[in-house]
Amino acid sequence: MGKIKKIGVLTSGGDAPGMNAAIRAVTRTAIYNNLEVIGIRHGYQGLINANFKPLHAHSVSDIIQRGGTILKTARCEAFKTPEGRLSAYNNLKEAQIDGVVVIGGDGSFTGARIFNEEYDIPFVGVPGTIDNDIYGTDYTIGYDTALNTVVQAVDKIRDTASAHNRMFFIEVMGAEAGFIALYSGIATGAEAIIIPEIKGQARNLKEMIESGNTRKKSSNIIIVAEGDEEGGAFAIAEKVKEDFKDYDIRVTVLGHLQRGGSPSAIDRVNASRLGHAAVEALLDDQKSVMVGLIHDEISLVPFAKAVKLHKNVNMALVEIARILSV
Ligand code: F6P
Repeated sequence: MGKIKKIGVLTSGGDAPGMNAAIRAVTRTAIYNNLEVIGIRHGYQGLINANFKPLHAHSVSDIIQRGGTILKTARCEAFKTPEGRLSAYNNLKEAQIDGVVVIGGDGSFTGARIFNEEYDIPFVGVPGTIDNDIYGTDYTIGYDTALNTVVQAVDKIRDTASAHNRMFFIEVMGAEAGFIALYSGIATGAEAIIIPEIKGQARNLKEMIESGNTRKKSSNIIIVAEGDEEGGAFAIAEKVKEDFKDYDIRVTVLGHLQRGGSPSAIDRVNASRLGHAAVEALLDDQKSVMVGLIHDEISLVPFAKAVKLHKNVNMALVEIARILSV
């Protein structure tokens, strides 16, 4: 008999479409391996408050297609304290939980890494965030869905932008990273894309637009990543409006609609693979690691590396976006 008999699963940080598919995969893989499964509600706060509920195969029926997370999520300050982590440990011991799958982003993995330095209950991570900003995986759960949501929204804005000959600054999420902005910008034929990974873009915006704008365009779409150095789409629009006196300028912040909706097929499949791999990792006595997808293969990366190393956007795509926006 292996050491792991009962596992917990939680979702933490910002929710992402596909988290439910991952909860389902964790639960059913665990049951397949004769493990008990406990759902931990509200992320790390649920560990601290012992907010536990058993999960069975039927508990995760009819959720693969739903956005959000049936376990709820939270950003938990208390888990950052030694006292909070001690309560979490005591509650896990009391409930006889031998390992935990954490579905979340880098903040969640930092908490898991510290916990695993202090305590012997193994944590394994599944990357779930729309931002796609985690080192050690090509895709995070939720990114593909959010990207498609943004593309649909920008396509709609393009219709009204060209009807009025307007310039739109559209702000998208991504925290400190430009993945959503860069990919949605290419997918929608944006005239300019501003991302945190490249400095000084707002200063060069006039040039960027004019160089790709020698022919008279009826609309201009500028995608701005929320983490850009100027402080978002409103700040940039304000800054550059002197340079674009002839344009009627509008700003749209897409906001939290990017986090909702039914997960795409890719997110459902990735979540299923990663959730399954996380349980296998616990059964293989892994701890303090994240499961990722690299070149379509499952890989394991220590939390320490996943949170410390920076995943960069592909700069070749920046150049392609520039060339294609003429
Ligand atoms: O990390 C996911 C994310 O949606 C980021 O893109 C964004 O910056 C942040 O969460 C928003 O957080 P909140 O929902 O707490 O406002």
